[in-house]
Amino acid sequence: MTSSETRPRILCRCLGVASTRVFAAIREKNLHTVEEVTRATHAGSSCGTCHTEIEEVLADVHGFETTPAQRRENQLVCESETRIRVEASVDNLVQPRLFAQGIRIQRLSVDGLTLTLQLEREIDASLRDELTEILRAHLCRDLEIRFCI
Ligand code: FES
Repeated sequence: MTSSETRPRILCRCLGVASTRVFAAIREKNLHTVEEVTRATHAGSSCGTCHTEIEEVLADVHGFETTPAQRRENQLVCESETRIRVEASVDNLVQPRLFAQGIRIQRLSVDGLTLTLQLEREIDASLRDELTEILRAHLCRDLEIRFCI
């Protein structure tokens, strides 16, 4: 069985909780149910879409079986929801700040807990820090933000 621990990601998109925090909480606090994980991490406390992913992490940590089909479904939902949330945050919160300086985003990519924004030219360190803080606050505090040209 392949553990989803090899695939760090924003496990709970509503609350911005990384899978790494869920794995750590389950181990440190010896959690066994979705409800316990939600109490400990807040993951899963809104729409509930991530509950099957929390179950998958519980299975990974405690050595239970989950079906490949369910794992695949969890991965597809996670990637799709993450992409939608990232694009909305970038469009609404980052794009206007860059546009005010005459800079466009040429490409956006999300790989696990890394978000890369390719810009048409360099931005200064203070704007980079500001945008990084905004994106982490809205998406996930464990997100790594990379700016490149
Ligand atoms: S994705 Fe976790 S509660 Fe909505």
